[in-house]
Amino acid sequence: MDYKSQINISEVPSHVAIIMDGNGRWAKKHGKPRIFGHKNGVLSVRSVVEGAGEIGLKYLTLYAFSTENWKRPKVEVAALMQLLVATISNEVSALNKNNVRLLTIGDLKSLPGNCEKELQKAMEKTKNNTGLSLVLALSYSSKSEIINAVKSISKDVSEDKLKVEEISDKVFDTYLDTNLMNDPELLIRTSGEYRLSNFLLWQIAYAELYFSDKFWPDFTKEDLFEAIVDYQNRERRFGMTSEQL
Ligand code: IPE
Ligand code: IPE
Ligand code: MG
Repeated sequence: MDYKSQINISEVPSHVAIIMDGNGRWAKKHGKPRIFGHKNGVLSVRSVVEGAGEIGLKYLTLYAFSTENWKRPKVEVAALMQLLVATISNEVSALNKNNVRLLTIGDLKSLPGNCEKELQKAMEKTKNNTGLSLVLALSYSSKSEIINAVKSISKDVSEDKLKVEEISDKVFDTYLDTNLMNDPELLIRTSGEYRLSNFLLWQIAYAELYFSDKFWPDFTKEDLFEAIVDYQNRERRFGMTSEQL
């Protein structure tokens, strides 16, 4: 079935976030080491980024590495960082060709120096692109992001740059890593896990959740299109009744 033709292009969500999960289990299923799964996961990223561009998404946020992932075996972490550097430097020209702007959220400073440098370079080279913004969540923790926002707000209050009465959810938004983006309307998680794993907790207050049983390396743009068709068949009520909409 062709899901793309079922999408109502005038009503695609502007921001989709994805928890790309299941690389390790996919590799195990194929009798290979976990890193083989991560490498194949890059192909899914390519396909999904392409698909996102085709239907005119504004923001695609991909959860690539959580702060909790630092607890994995050293060899896996090192291999993931290595893969990140190689992928970024390989993909920059394709990003430019497709008018994609690269952004990141998370604690970039905690990444190995060469990773951070490669990312900064790629962000600089793609900063004027006006199509899709591809947001990589790297060394990301939603709770840390929220705590950092609280610290910055407290500092601004103590320095008289902000009044306590002025703090609202809109103001709070501006202190988050995601301050330039609207909240995701749709959150997808692959691999049949039903949890958020410390991802965008504030921003997904009203997101539609979509769970796919596919492991991430099996997920392609067709699966993204299927999720969007599913999203478009839902009624988003925001606390109201159907009749009010
Ligand atoms: C997602 O796949 C990629 C990262 C978290 C970096 P996993 O590596 O979590 O794969 P599973 O969940 O162990 O199968
Ligand atoms: C969440 O996946 C983080 C990323 C996809 C980068 P995990 O595989 O790390 O999540 P848990 O540990 O199963 O919750
Ligand atoms: Mg996992």
